[in-house]
Amino acid sequence: ILPDTFESTWSSPSNIALVKYWGKKEGQIPANPSISFTLDHCATTTRVKFTRKETPGISFDLLFEGEPKPSFKPKIQQFIDRILPYMEFLEGYHLEIDTSNSFPHSSGIASSASGMSALALCLMSLEAALSGAEEDANFYKKASFLARLGSGSACRSLEGPLVSWGQHEHISGSSDLYGTPYRGQLHKTFLDYRDTILLVDKGQKQVSSTVGHGLMHGHPYAEARFEQAHRNLAELLEVLQNGDSRAFIRIVESEALTLHAMMMSSNPYFILMKPNTLEIINKVWDFREKTGSALCFTLDAGANVHLLYPGSEADEVMKFIEDELVDYCEQGQYICDRIGEGAKRR
Ligand code: PMV
Repeated sequence: ILPDTFESTWSSPSNIALVKYWGKKEGQIPANPSISFTLDHCATTTRVKFTRKETPGISFDLLFEGEPKPSFKPKIQQFIDRILPYMEFLEGYHLEIDTSNSFPHSSGIASSASGMSALALCLMSLEAALSGAEEDANFYKKASFLARLGSGSACRSLEGPLVSWGQHEHISGSSDLYGTPYRGQLHKTFLDYRDTILLVDKGQKQVSSTVGHGLMHGHPYAEARFEQAHRNLAELLEVLQNGDSRAFIRIVESEALTLHAMMMSSNPYFILMKPNTLEIINKVWDFREKTGSALCFTLDAGANVHLLYPGSEADEVMKFIEDELVDYCEQGQYICDRIGEGAKRR
């Protein structure tokens, strides 16, 4: 029996890819496997109130940080259209979606991963309530499957501390359809890893990720890139166990630069880094050379720089950021985050 009303609230974190997903096939299928650290503080909290209505179809209202947000509606509508075949019980409900982010609204940090995963979990809570299912591994698997249909990388945001997505011969149970939490041995250095996000450019992304993935179709280097991602992921899986920080740095920084190289060599081409992005990268390399630190950088499809480092180096790295890097950040802003455990029900 379908309840007349139901309410569910989930908070879901953002994630930062170590091996990047860039390029997809029909049906939100990744062109290559990827893996990410789940973040902790950067999160979206979403409450959905479901109310049964007389008219057919699904309708929804959306509040973002307490205000109506018409510009988000098409993406949510597309998400609902895509998931409906897997959640037919939603037919006949009106959804009041109330969502907010823990990170500043225009920070250049994409909220699609945290937002779509939080929303998918709210919908799954209604399904679980209807079927009497537990919030077990299958619950998360289907929630991840749904989140993927909203935004590919969102399927890596539900659990932690690391989640892969996409079939890979060395990851048992890996799938193109949902994220798989990393179940291998994790070297102790990665148990307390930090991500300090330097906000170099807080503006809107110049290239939406939909357009970005599209650029990999017919890209002259696409096949080589997809194979490289497979190899890098295989190597990274070993590094996660043996804690080899030099190999970690080499893979993660190369992945970040390759992502941008793909954009620079596509048709049309884009440069998403800013001069300050490069200034920061050079400073990070100098710092590492001088101190032997395990600090490294990675990038998303934008100019902001994610600094990754073990918690044991936090004091030195924070001093370095304050002394040498804040001036490259817009309004001196950065966000301190760390590896997290995944989404939480509120
Ligand atoms: O999930 P999307 O479609 O927004 O794509 C995100 C792609 C990158 O963030 C650039 C890389 C990744 O694997 O997260």
